[in-house]
Amino acid sequence: MDFLSINVLPLLVGGLGIYGIFWLLQRIQARAYLKDAVVVITGATSGLGKECAKAFHAAGAKLVLCGRNSERLKDLLRELSTTAGHSKNPHKHHTVTFDLSDTKAVFSAAEEILKGVGQVDILVNNAGISYRGTIADTVVEVDRKVMETNYFGPVALTKALLPSMIKRRKGHIVAISSVQGKIAIPFRSAYAALP
Ligand SMILES: NC(=O)c1ccc[n+]([C@@H]2O[C@H](COP(=O)([O-])OP(=O)(O)OC[C@H]3O[C@@H](n4cnc5c(N)ncnc54)[C@H](OP(=O)(O)O)[C@@H]3O)[C@@H](O)[C@H]2O)c1
Repeated sequence: MDFLSINVLPLLVGGLGIYGIFWLLQRIQARAYLKDAVVVITGATSGLGKECAKAFHAAGAKLVLCGRNSERLKDLLRELSTTAGHSKNPHKHHTVTFDLSDTKAVFSAAEEILKGVGQVDILVNNAGISYRGTIADTVVEVDRKVMETNYFGPVALTKALLPSMIKRRKGHIVAISSVQGKIAIPFRSAYAALP
């Protein structure tokens, strides 16, 4: 055996072992945190929001599912109740219907959420609309709608729920954005102005 394999190999194996234990502990800690946590997900009726709902449901969280379409939110509740691990989640999930582009509705929704579940441990600001069009051809009303939904709505919801998190000194806020907020590509105009 040469010098390298005598000295480097045990270090490498030891390092990997420590990393593995650290990774495992982090996963166990995250699982424990998510179990029974109150998780608010905007845009839960489709795409990423719906998948987040399934993942948090599987982890044992209590969900507040948000969207504009109450029927689709009910469909999601039904879907969650038929998932394989459903029996492991004892919670009755809530649905809250509101339009993120309507600031007043956002504040009432926040009140409804806090009244209904008492606290929010994790807010997932996921809802958003996409848009394609040149800047020159896009009317200001469209820019406004995109910004109200994708930016001001989540900002208003966050501001409405934040004081209760600060009071409890606990809470996480997740912002789902797009890489286009960093690297704008042609024809995405207002959408690429995401925070
Ligand atoms: N898909 C992608 O490739 C991609 C890539 C990068 C980033 N993103 C971002 O990821 C997020 C989710 O994208 P997705 O593709 O999963 O979207 P999606 O399938 O189109 O779903 C959008 C969700 O947002 C909700 N929503 C839309 N307008 C709303 C409004 N005014 N008020 C309240 N809720 C509203 C919709 O629910 P209702 O219709 O029930 O209101 C729906 O549940 C978005 O923020 C998007 O910008 C997506």
